[in-house]
Amino acid sequence: MTRASAFLDPRLSEYLVAHAQPRDPLLAELVAETHRLYPELDLQVSPDEGALLRMLVRLCGARRAIELGTFTGYSSICVAQGLAPGGRLLCCDVSAKWTAVARRYWELAGLTDRIELHLGPALRIVAGLPAEPRFDFAFVDAEKTEYIDYYEALVSRMAPGGLIAVDNTLGHGKVAGVGELDPRARLMRAFNDHVLADPRTQSVIVPIADGLTLVTVNG
Ligand SMILES: C[S@@+](CC[C@H](N)C(=O)[O-])C[C@H]1O[C@@H](n2cnc3c(N)ncnc32)[C@H](O)[C@@H]1O
Repeated sequence: MTRASAFLDPRLSEYLVAHAQPRDPLLAELVAETHRLYPELDLQVSPDEGALLRMLVRLCGARRAIELGTFTGYSSICVAQGLAPGGRLLCCDVSAKWTAVARRYWELAGLTDRIELHLGPALRIVAGLPAEPRFDFAFVDAEKTEYIDYYEALVSRMAPGGLIAVDNTLGHGKVAGVGELDPRARLMRAFNDHVLADPRTQSVIVPIADGLTLVTVNG
């Protein structure tokens, strides 16, 4: 079963998933295989969020994209499918095992010529990239304790008007709670406040899946 939003009514959440398209049989197979291989893990973006990512990449006319946190490849396929002709996606992940599944599905999706995988800590990989060319689109879904560092590393590497999409920013719906927050909600609250205070960018949090913050970098 696809991950539902923790804060939306489950029926509404399933309704959103059911009304996102295109419905891609290969992505459905990837979800099923990932659940078979790693039944204890629930890490993939949901189909409605994947559809939104693909649409955003397309709307940006993005040619250069980067993803931090690839796992078995679901979101990377959505992002790569949205790229303009000749576009390239650079994926970063620390797991050779999980991204081996991604590589197989990139092949099946006919996307190997558009995606380049860098294995290692995302912060180190981004720090080692040349300053140019800049990215038109970035998707952040790796280590939650490093979100502010990812953001800072990416902002200066984005083209003017470039879009950064950041996953899980509603901390299972607990981010606005009062009193003692759980660690994930605390991290996400700190990240959201950091973005809000940044005069270099504009942002909005979209309440899809576990929350997707969209940040555009001022020109
Ligand atoms: C939530 S999963 C990503 C899910 C993926 N976006 C998808 O839709 O299938 C997080 C991923 O981040 C990776 N990760 C964790 N720490 C990392 C780091 N420091 N640098 C890069 N990747 C990291 C994990 O190996 C894992 O594959």
